[in-house]
Amino acid sequence: MPETEAGLKIETVYAADEIGRRLASLAGEIAAKKPENLLVVPILKGSFVFAADLLRALHGVGLTPEVDFLTLSSYKKSRTSSGQVTILRDLDLHVEGRHVILVDDVLDSGRTLAFAKDLISARGANVIETCVLLKKNVARAVNIEADYHAFTCPDVFVVGYGMDVAHRYRELPYVGRIVD
Ligand code: IMP
Ligand code: MG
Repeated sequence: MPETEAGLKIETVYAADEIGRRLASLAGEIAAKKPENLLVVPILKGSFVFAADLLRALHGVGLTPEVDFLTLSSYKKSRTSSGQVTILRDLDLHVEGRHVILVDDVLDSGRTLAFAKDLISARGANVIETCVLLKKNVARAVNIEADYHAFTCPDVFVVGYGMDVAHRYRELPYVGRIVD
């Protein structure tokens, strides 16, 4: 089990090769719906590694999406949600009339994705879908589900593959769990 600088152990939950295989089939699911005028919107920061791999997988199935980024805050520095979502950096592109796929790392309480969906909907997107790497198996605080997800995961706090705790461990090429 790899050990971090701080001496914490990280147990692998989803290995890099497993994630890669799953993303190829997820891209196939997305392509099957034949999205037109597709805009992929990764919600930063946590989704950046997932989104980068997903975009290349979408290329692999013949899609040619545009990409723009939305930076939202929710978790701050702690492991528990603050419950309030704010925009830290908005999109540059217009979404009106487009097929938008919102991409996030984790669907947990649902507040982040619901906030993003409402925002994009108010701006007149034609179709809005949501795609997450991990769908946590917990009760949502708001009524939202993901249209696409790579994995369903138990209610544990995970890091790596873009996800952090207090800004650390985003660089890990796999999804892991800190063993206290
Ligand atoms: P929600 O708004 O409660 O659904 O939470 C979604 C956001 O919380 C995600 O975009 C993540 O940034 C963060 N998050 C939730 N669970 C975890 C986790 O286990 N590790 C790292 N970030 C998490
Ligand atoms: Mg996030």
